Amino acid sequence: MRSKLVAGNWKMHGSLTENEALLGALLKGLAAGPVSASLCAVCVPFPYLSQVQALLRSSRVEWGAQDVSEHAKGAYTGEVSVAMLKDFGCRYAIVGHSERRMLHGEDDGLVRRKMMAVRGQGLTAIVCVGETLAQREAGQTESVVGAQLDALAADGGVGALGRSVLAYEPVWAIGTGKTATPEQAQAVHAFMRRRIAMQDDGVAAGLRILYGGSVKAGNAADLFAMPDIDGALVGGASLDANEFLTICRAAAALQ
Ligand code: 13P
Repeated sequence: MRSKLVAGNWKMHGSLTENEALLGALLKGLAAGPVSASLCAVCVPFPYLSQVQALLRSSRVEWGAQDVSEHAKGAYTGEVSVAMLKDFGCRYAIVGHSERRMLHGEDDGLVRRKMMAVRGQGLTAIVCVGETLAQREAGQTESVVGAQLDALAADGGVGALGRSVLAYEPVWAIGTGKTATPEQAQAVHAFMRRRIAMQDDGVAAGLRILYGGSVKAGNAADLFAMPDIDGALVGGASLDANEFLTICRAAAALQ
């Protein structure tokens, strides 16, 4: 049985004051039970890693970053290496988020190299894939997501994938309030698992595949009830402690 994971992606939100209030409320809620905190994580903007490390280090909530460089060090102005994330106690780094792919021109090869870099330092990559609305409407969901997965698994990447977490994030459901139905998400998750199984059965069976795209307190339980949905990557609702706690509780109920 794969353990569930609920990871918050704060995106470019937060301030020292807001973060303290949000994490304070989250820890208070978790202490009241019955969620085992290790099933939840927050991925925060780089400048707040130090603050988040200080606030969460004695809890079982994990933390991470929303992106990372493929390079280990050097003349890459503005970039942040995996080793730097490690210095701040990060367990996770999101790679290949659609906002990075679309707004920063990140392609499948770069996403794969970032995943390998994260794995190389012993952190866990949360690797995002997903189709746009136009691609879904053109019936291309499986070809698009399949090609993204094949690129990740190429050149021995399937081993690193096996030590990562995948996230299916249909672009049309991100921040739009349009959640994929549990059945729509399950169909793609099952397809993803079959696609990875073509390379490695064992990796496919153990791989956690999160769903992301307008996950809220009100729809999380139905999504988590699906056999191939192993948790969520939560954007907007992770900025509200009560919403996020309710999503974590929904996951915990199925552990
Ligand atoms: P929303 O939950 O705000 O739709 O964002 C999803 C997402 O992009 C998480 O990475």
